[in-house]
Amino acid sequence: MGFTYKNSTLHCGEVALEAIVRETGTPVYVYDFAAVRTQVEALRAALKVPHLLAFSVKSNGNLSLLRHLKSLGCGFDIVSGGELFRVLRAGGEAAQVVFSGVGKSRDEMQQALEAGVGWIAAESAAELETLAQIATSRRQKVRVLLRINPEIDPKTHPYIATGIKESKFGIAPAEGRALFKKYSAASGGGAGMLELIGISFHIGSQILEAGPFSTLCSFAAEFIGQLRADGHTITTLDLGGGVGIQYDAEQTLPISTYGEFVNRHIAPLGLQHFIVEPGRFIVGNAGVLVSRVINHKRNGDKEFRILDAGMGDLIRPALYKAFHKLIPVAQPPAGAPLKQLDWVGPICESGDFLAKERPSHDVAADGLVALLSAGAYGAVMASNYNARRRPAEVAVDGKQWRLVRRRERYEDLVRDEEGL
Ligand code: LLP
Repeated sequence: MGFTYKNSTLHCGEVALEAIVRETGTPVYVYDFAAVRTQVEALRAALKVPHLLAFSVKSNGNLSLLRHLKSLGCGFDIVSGGELFRVLRAGGEAAQVVFSGVGKSRDEMQQALEAGVGWIAAESAAELETLAQIATSRRQKVRVLLRINPEIDPKTHPYIATGIKESKFGIAPAEGRALFKKYSAASGGGAGMLELIGISFHIGSQILEAGPFSTLCSFAAEFIGQLRADGHTITTLDLGGGVGIQYDAEQTLPISTYGEFVNRHIAPLGLQHFIVEPGRFIVGNAGVLVSRVINHKRNGDKEFRILDAGMGDLIRPALYKAFHKLIPVAQPPAGAPLKQLDWVGPICESGDFLAKERPSHDVAADGLVALLSAGAYGAVMASNYNARRRPAEVAVDGKQWRLVRRRERYEDLVRDEEGL
């Protein structure tokens, strides 16, 4: 399982990446569905509380992956009408879906009610009001969670820290309590169609330390205690995602430790529904991006290796200076020297790099490399910039592999502009 060298060439499960690339070309994302299964099982084993594992579709929305996760008993966390459409296309059950997100349009809320999503996590008083109007005009009850911003520093990249005071996400705890008073049945106020039955959180992503999760779990338990003391019936808690993975050599939080916080603070609450929304933890290390070296190039002291994949295929290095290991597909001989190389894409931007000033094993022109840990926030963030076609995607399970997304064709690039 996973990505390992066998017979001196990199494999995913039992399948040589070279064999895949011979048929699909490059760049191509390759996902190990067995590794996805292992991650789901590891998280489930750590949680001693009955739970809904709502996979965060934003991390990887491939239809075949969603089908795979559904077959493993997962629900889904979505943040747009498009993600809802994907989940339903994949055969997901709307009742197992949580709709979060800071900017849901009226149309998206209508769409969610029409599909019958399990929960909507509201992120502001204004959104709650709009939702009440829509639910009332449809005469349809809807289960609502309030997304609370607990002001916990997740100690992660500022672009993906969501539970801090300055962030646009969630509602301050005091305002949350006031909104519960206004809308909940207990106080007799608000629109009768909103069933305000719980709270949700998501404090950030790629969290590696125990502290933020421990604080979050105790905060959640205490806040639910307050709401109950205020007279509200709280049946549901959604803890969000955020568990980090190893990209380089960083120490990660053992999933059993995350589980312990949940088991200690959340189990005693006797909730009807407890939801977690992991994305990266489930798919991050289960995917690689395979790319071909187009050319070698030297500019002054700089040694460039120009790849056929760039920021349009994997934007994380350009956007967050994120680190992805880059390794040759053909295993380098033992003791092969490392060179300081810049691995860059073909796009006309200096920010288009995948690995900068990286001590690496060199790969000749036409050789293949794999960028590791690319299963989450890889293909989903791809773009057509420079009129490049978004990459193909492949799923491997043991000895089997299949294409799960065709490489875009040139026709796809112009389809929506022609004849206008
Ligand atoms: N739930 C909500 C409401 C979220 O906003 C997110 C991620 C998740 C769950 C899943 O978080 P995870 O378990 O994957 O950490 N593009 C960035 C990551 C953005 C994360 C946004 N929210 C990256 O490439 O690092």
